[in-house]
Amino acid sequence: MKRIAVFTSGGDAPGMNAAIRAVVRACIYNQIEVYGIMRGYQGMIEGSIKQLTSRDVGGIIQRGGTILKSARSKDFMHPDGRKKAYDNLKEHGIDAVVAIGGNGTFTGANVFSEEFDIPFVGIPGTIDNDLFGTDYTIGYDTAVNTVMRALDNIRDTASAHNRLFFVEVMGRDAGFLALRSGISGGAEAVLIPEVKTHLEDLHLYLETGFKKQKSSGIIIVAEGETEGGAYDIARKVRDDFKDYEVRVTVLGHIQRGGSPSAFDRVTASKMGVSAVEALIKGSKNVMMGLECGNIKEVAFVKAIKEHKHIDRKLYDLLTILNY
Ligand code: F6P
Repeated sequence: MKRIAVFTSGGDAPGMNAAIRAVVRACIYNQIEVYGIMRGYQGMIEGSIKQLTSRDVGGIIQRGGTILKSARSKDFMHPDGRKKAYDNLKEHGIDAVVAIGGNGTFTGANVFSEEFDIPFVGIPGTIDNDLFGTDYTIGYDTAVNTVMRALDNIRDTASAHNRLFFVEVMGRDAGFLALRSGISGGAEAVLIPEVKTHLEDLHLYLETGFKKQKSSGIIIVAEGETEGGAYDIARKVRDDFKDYEVRVTVLGHIQRGGSPSAFDRVTASKMGVSAVEALIKGSKNVMMGLECGNIKEVAFVKAIKEHKHIDRKLYDLLTILNY
């Protein structure tokens, strides 16, 4: 193993830079040359690959985003694109690759590994926390804290005006971010795709418990919620509860940025070093997962195909906490 390349792909997540830093420094520590691929798979196809030194990753552990930039490459979905990417990796003498990203990133890596002879290992980086085999993905903890702070601000104004807010939270098809941030922000209800939303239940809650005890509140709606987004659900509620002043906030990409939390920085550092060690010992097509505080290897196929369940006990807490 003489030369390893690293790239970030898909939606950026706070802590990706900490992971890049760890990969670069673990390579150098092990006398391996390290290269950065710009803009994910797209840069691999376009040959945008450059050597990185320890200094190149100085002063980035605290920065959100990714110094290697990111992209969702359509070209990599085609065999021609993947062949170009392979030729470029070979031209640069790359022996192995560390991919930092989410589901789409590892799906691409898995297909590539079936076609070509360059081993890949993955580091889970997405605010969605939707990858099987890891308790946490890099960026999730920071995003939870970002949403929590936004909820704190919204609660001030909700309370001042006696308003009911519907707040839409990212997470693609999953409700991990919505649930954890909702609990930490004291939300009155959290609507997530994993639990069928019974609008009647929400109505009942608003009609009885909520109306009697509270003058304002926050309902979290995960963007993947099957009943619709925050605007749709707010509209349905507004029609039936005309005496409530309803407002909607879609938090959007605010959730993706910002300085990573200590937890994300440490997790990214552990995963970055482990990824390089995994390649050195001959592992391939595996993602670094964090289970009960320990790093373990999870096959790409499992990480992308198996369903990660939400913590039902955490969801059930909501009922007790809003009693
Ligand atoms: O996967 C991260 C994520 O932020 C999702 O939560 C969201 O659905 C999606 O990316 C948004 O993607 P884009 O930034 O390409 O609009």
